[in-house]
Amino acid sequence: MRVLGIETSCDETGVALYDTAQGLLADALFSQIDLHATYGGVVPELASRDHIRKLIPLIREVMAKANLTLSDLDGIAYTAGPGLIGALLVGATLGRSLASGLNIPSLAVHHMEGHLLAPMLETPAPDFPFIALLVSGGHTQLVQVEGVGQYTLLGESVDDAAGEAFDKAAKMMQLGYPGGPKLAALATQGTQGRFRFPRPMTDRPGLDFSFSGLKTHTLTTLKQLETEGRLDEQARADVAFAFQDAVVDTLVIKCKRALKQTGLKRLVIAGGVSANVQLRERLAEVMSGLQGEVFYPRPAYCTDNGAMIAHIGALRMAAGEHDSNELSALRPRWP
Ligand code: KG4
Ligand code: ZN
Repeated sequence: MRVLGIETSCDETGVALYDTAQGLLADALFSQIDLHATYGGVVPELASRDHIRKLIPLIREVMAKANLTLSDLDGIAYTAGPGLIGALLVGATLGRSLASGLNIPSLAVHHMEGHLLAPMLETPAPDFPFIALLVSGGHTQLVQVEGVGQYTLLGESVDDAAGEAFDKAAKMMQLGYPGGPKLAALATQGTQGRFRFPRPMTDRPGLDFSFSGLKTHTLTTLKQLETEGRLDEQARADVAFAFQDAVVDTLVIKCKRALKQTGLKRLVIAGGVSANVQLRERLAEVMSGLQGEVFYPRPAYCTDNGAMIAHIGALRMAAGEHDSNELSALRPRWP
């Protein structure tokens, strides 16, 4: 089964081709980061318009890279949610129309399921079952994964997602958009131990997270340093270090807890924040101590991309799933 995948849920236009027998055949991505940077965040209407501009050229690029034509496709999968309604509409409309014109099935895909199984695009791929830590700009979740579609939510953030907290802290430090990678870069210049931020919700049982308090803590620390006239470059780097250390430590503590609770020894991390080097290093350490294994996608498949959508689409369509003929609604909020 050869499936074209389309991702347009936020600020990246992603297209890819996945073949259930041969794996990933080709992919292409256009990031809108420069477009939104001047506004300090994603402007939904600009995102939709840019997806309209880029989607067809990217589909052409992917088909050419794989040396295939549209008539070689067996199905088309597109992200139907969660995401920005206007942005989702672009990928869904084109995906469904194209499938209809080619007389092949289409399939609505859940964006987070794409992230969740993205580590399976790598070699070696993780075997089922495993614990997944999904950390993106909109989600922080611990999921027990038994197979495709067999997911148990073990815990999640009760307020901000980890990536969202990174972005907000970075904004307070005027680091620009998207803040996560910029804050992580600044943290490499920071000194360990100058500030210690709290590890929220780690002093009680359970696998839920809360990151909004860390934001307030960051703001208070920055304001105090400023009042005392001590907010120089080193102090900013030290704050970035303490912030990242607290987020990473909190995530690591909860991962260890989830592994212990389920008795599993395989951990997968996915979503934009899984590109964080500090998080990867800490989890690699923990898993080697537990004689377990940790898997993550290459950086380009940590953040939004078409490959993860083509992958899920192909797995599910090969199992017989496809859209009904009725025009299904998009799901900007899809649990
Ligand atoms: O998965 P993703 O591309 O989009 C969503 O579905 O949300 O994740 C984007 C998030 C942003 O919050 C971004 O700041 C964060 O991932 N991020 C990082 C890093 N790279 C991306 N956060 C911390 N360190 C990084 N290296
Ligand atoms: Zn995403």
